[in-house]
Amino acid sequence: MGHYRMPILDETGYVVLDPYGGMIDPREWTSLAYVDWKSSGDTRFAPLASAAGQVECNGFWHADPPRADKDGVWIPSQVSTAPTLVERVQQVGANVGRCRVIELQPNSYADALYNSHLDDNNRLNPDGEGWVIRCFMQLTDDPSSFMVLREDINDPSTETRLALPAGAQLVVDSERMWHSVWHAGDEPRYCLITSFESGPELEKWIWERNPRPIVPSQAVDSGFAAASEEEAQRRRAARTAYYGYDPTEVRSEA
Ligand SMILES: [Fe+2]
Repeated sequence: MGHYRMPILDETGYVVLDPYGGMIDPREWTSLAYVDWKSSGDTRFAPLASAAGQVECNGFWHADPPRADKDGVWIPSQVSTAPTLVERVQQVGANVGRCRVIELQPNSYADALYNSHLDDNNRLNPDGEGWVIRCFMQLTDDPSSFMVLREDINDPSTETRLALPAGAQLVVDSERMWHSVWHAGDEPRYCLITSFESGPELEKWIWERNPRPIVPSQAVDSGFAAASEEEAQRRRAARTAYYGYDPTEVRSEA
């Protein structure tokens, strides 16, 4: 039978929505409790919902009993710090799994390509239920930073770079699309990342926000892009040689 997948993501694996129009006090994300959790680059995470309502970021398959990335438990201390962020997520009406704010330190294009990965969103997801995807809601205003998506990590022609001004909202099948962020700023970038179950509630929320499955990729200098690709693939190859396998072929636990 397989999982229910939203047709809107069939074509490109992502959609860009109209930006969130509201204002949020930055203290909602700067005052959260963060844990060190390695993802794409130099990162920390502040969980808002976790497997058991604790301030931790483990995949729900590590819970007792293990379960799919759904039915996240809101963390009271974090919810009271970030009520508007939680309201934004709950407004969707879909089943929420892991929900957290990511803090990413500035990096390079090559770093982003080096760290690109696939997420492990559907481990233990029962057959016949909705495919778990990720929604990214940009918090800080980083219009010169890009979400870098690739259908094939080894094929730069499959890449789309999406700008990240404040309020940008992206829905990504992050188990299909290789992804990472090239954050060119001086200050950390913050983004709200939520695992949602595909289904009618999520589709309704997406359709009400003018979804675009094809968005022109942000331009970069072709020589710079080629040099960044070469550096990233050299570092990826060295990592593969060191471990004896490509660790990004094992889906990210973040
Ligand atoms: Fe990821």
